Amino acid sequence: MRILGIETSCDETAAAVVVDGVMVESSVIASTKDIFKAVGGVVPEDAARRQLEYIIPAIRQALSDANVTQEAIDVIAVTKGPGLLGSLLGGTTAARVLSSVWQKPLVGVHHTFGHLTSPWLAPNPRPNFPCITLSASGGHTDLWYRTSHTKGTLLGRTRDDAAGEAFDKGAKLLGLPYPGGPSIANAADAGNEAAHMFPVALRNEDTFDFSFSGVKTALRTALHALPDLDEQARCDIAASYQYALCHQLTDRAAAAAKTYRDAVEVHIVGGVSANRRLRSLLTETLSIPIVWPATLQYCTDNAAMIASGAAFLIEELGESAYAPFDTTATLPLESCVS
Ligand code: KG4
Ligand code: ZN
Repeated sequence: MRILGIETSCDETAAAVVVDGVMVESSVIASTKDIFKAVGGVVPEDAARRQLEYIIPAIRQALSDANVTQEAIDVIAVTKGPGLLGSLLGGTTAARVLSSVWQKPLVGVHHTFGHLTSPWLAPNPRPNFPCITLSASGGHTDLWYRTSHTKGTLLGRTRDDAAGEAFDKGAKLLGLPYPGGPSIANAADAGNEAAHMFPVALRNEDTFDFSFSGVKTALRTALHALPDLDEQARCDIAASYQYALCHQLTDRAAAAAKTYRDAVEVHIVGGVSANRRLRSLLTETLSIPIVWPATLQYCTDNAAMIASGAAFLIEELGESAYAPFDTTATLPLESCVS
């Protein structure tokens, strides 16, 4: 089954062609991150306008890179939410029009469900269930125990900021450019992570939840105490802050793996799964296999994961995967994994 995936939930306009949920024939991402770098974050109205500008060229490019025409597409998949409503509407409107004109079935995919299936994209070997999935991006931080793509239990989630948001806000405080994750990671490479001790929230509590607002406040306080920050001191603080964020994520994933002993793998997905220190810390701490998406492009927002998500929704839910859907800014993942 060849699926055209479309993802426009935030500031990326993405289209991809994926066969059987795993084989990526093309993956196009038009990012407006450089435009938003100047203002230090995404401007929703501007992001929505860019979606309209880029969506048709991105779809054309995805078909052309895959060397297929619309006749070869079996299904169209699109992110239905959550995200910025104006941006989402750019993608879902294009998908609805193409579905009607090309006479192809349409599947609405939850954005985070796409992240959860991103480890299935080749060249990764096929991952296994039951698994623990740590899903950490700019909009959410969730910990799941899953026995199939659509069956699972949400073990914990952030009580305040998302992990990616903590990277982005931390970078702003440190005077590093947006998006904050890669900026902090790069600065941290030249820093000493033992230079400062930042708190790891909820460490001794009986919970799988996360909390990142305290560490952000601790960063602000540390920076106030150091008004004349030289380059090395900035890198040291960035490294220590990154360590605190990664430590908390690792701590909860390790606790889940210890509690759910039949889990055979821990999956890490979402933009924050691109973080090298998070990967090394998880590898040092966990004794079961860890799986992350095959490329950095599949960690951050992309349309291949949406096409893959649709394939597994169809595999597990059959006809109901094609049910009509609304485009919505807020949408709990428990609506498709439970
Ligand atoms: O999944 P994603 O592309 O979009 C959302 O669904 O939010 O995640 C974006 C988030 C941003 O907060 C970004 O700073 C973070 O992922 N991120 C990283 C890295 N690359 C992206 N965080 C830490 N380290 C990275 N290397
Ligand atoms: Zn995302």
